Amino acid sequence: MILLAIETSCDETAISIIKRARGKQVRFEVLSHKVLSQIDLHAQYGGVFPMLAKREHAKAITQLIAEALGEAELLVERTNTFHLPHAKRKKLETLLEREPEMLQAMNTLFEGIQKPLVDAIAVTEGPGLEPALWIGITAAQALRTAWDIPIYPINHMEGHVMASILQEKDGLYELQDIEFPACALLISGGHTEIVRIAKLRSYTVIGKTRDDAVGEAFDKAARMMDLPYPGGPEISRLAEYARKEGLVVRDDLRLPRPMLHSGDLNFSCSGLKTAVLTRIQKNKPLDDITRRMLALEFENAITDVIVAKVKQAMYETRAKSLIVGGGVSANTHIRFALQELATAEGFTLYIPDRKLSTDNALMIASTGLMHLDVGEEPRAKLAARGSWSIEES
Ligand code: KG4
Ligand code: ZN
Repeated sequence: MILLAIETSCDETAISIIKRARGKQVRFEVLSHKVLSQIDLHAQYGGVFPMLAKREHAKAITQLIAEALGEAELLVERTNTFHLPHAKRKKLETLLEREPEMLQAMNTLFEGIQKPLVDAIAVTEGPGLEPALWIGITAAQALRTAWDIPIYPINHMEGHVMASILQEKDGLYELQDIEFPACALLISGGHTEIVRIAKLRSYTVIGKTRDDAVGEAFDKAARMMDLPYPGGPEISRLAEYARKEGLVVRDDLRLPRPMLHSGDLNFSCSGLKTAVLTRIQKNKPLDDITRRMLALEFENAITDVIVAKVKQAMYETRAKSLIVGGGVSANTHIRFALQELATAEGFTLYIPDRKLSTDNALMIASTGLMHLDVGEEPRAKLAARGSWSIEES
C-alpha cells in the first residue's frame, strides 16, 4: 500500500510518499519527504500573501511530485510515445483552465512516465489559505484524472496531531499507542486551540483564540520589532539569548498575560500585540538590550498563558496525554515549560520532532493512512476549505 500526500495550505509546498508496513498498527516507511519553503520570498514582504503563495505552489508542485516519485523509485519513464485518452485530456483542461503552465507541466509528466504504483492520495483540503489549498487539491485531482487513484481529503490540524504522535523506530515511523482521553494543544500561524480527543477521529474543540493565533502574534510582534518573517524563531532566538545573559526585564517593558484568569480555556493575543506596540513606541529607537528584553517578556507572557490553559484543560478533561502540534511547538521555551508541567502533573507529553513541527506532507500522509485504517472512504468532490474545524473533519 503506497500513499502520496500533498500539502499546500500555507507557504510550504510539500510532498511525501509512504509505504505501509505489514501488521495491525499504522506503521510505514518513508519513500520520499520533500518540503519546498517559500519563506525567503514572503520574508521580503513581511508575511504571506495568498495569491503569491498560490503562484509559487503552482510553479513548483508538478516538478516536486516528479522528484518525489523519482526518489521513491516509482518513476518509470516511457519508451513509447503516449498521449492521454481524449476524455482525460479534456477533463484535465477543464480542471486546470486557469493554470495553463501547471496544465502543461502535468501533461508532460503524464506523457513522460508510466502510471506509478501509488494506491492512494491524501491532500490537505483545509483549513488554510484557499488559493494555496486549491493548488494542492487541483494537483491531486489531476493525478486522479490521469491515473485513477482515489483521494482522501485531510484536515491540516488533524495532520498536526498525527505528526506529534509519530515515532521513528528501526527506520520506520509508527503511530504511538497513546492513552485516551487526550488533549491536543494546536498552536500555529493560523490556529490556536485546545482539543479534547476521546479517540482518534473524535475531536471536540474546548478552547480557542478569540482573535490572533499564537504564531500570528509572534510574527506580528516580531515585525513591530523590525525582525524578519517568520517572527517566531527570531523572537525565540533573542529570548534565549536574553536568558543566557541573565537579563532582567525592566518594569516598563512588562506585558500583560491576557485571559490568564478568564476561567475558560480561550486565548486572546491581540491585546498583547498592542501592548508590545506601546512599549516599542515609548522606547524608540529600540536598542539591542531593550529588544532582547521585549522578546523575552513576550515569550514568557505567551508561555505563562499556554501553561495555565493547558493545566486547566488537562484537569477538566481528566486527560492522560497531551499532544502538542503546529509550528509554534518548535519553540524551545514552550517545549520546556510543557515538559515541566507534564512531569509535575503526571501526564505524558507528545510533541513532534522539530523537523515535523512546521508544515510538511508526512503529517498528511500519516493521517491519510490512519483514515484508510479506520475504513474511511475516499471522496469524489473536493473543495478548498479556508476554515474547517477539526471537529467536522
Ligand atoms: O504550523 P505552521 O508551520 O503553519 C501554519 O499552519 O500556520 O506554523 C507557522 C508558525 C509561524 O507563525 C511561525 O512564526 C511559528 O509557527 N513558529 C514559531 C517557532 N517556529 C515557528 N513560533 C515560536 N517559536 C518558534 N521557534
Ligand atoms: Zn500548520
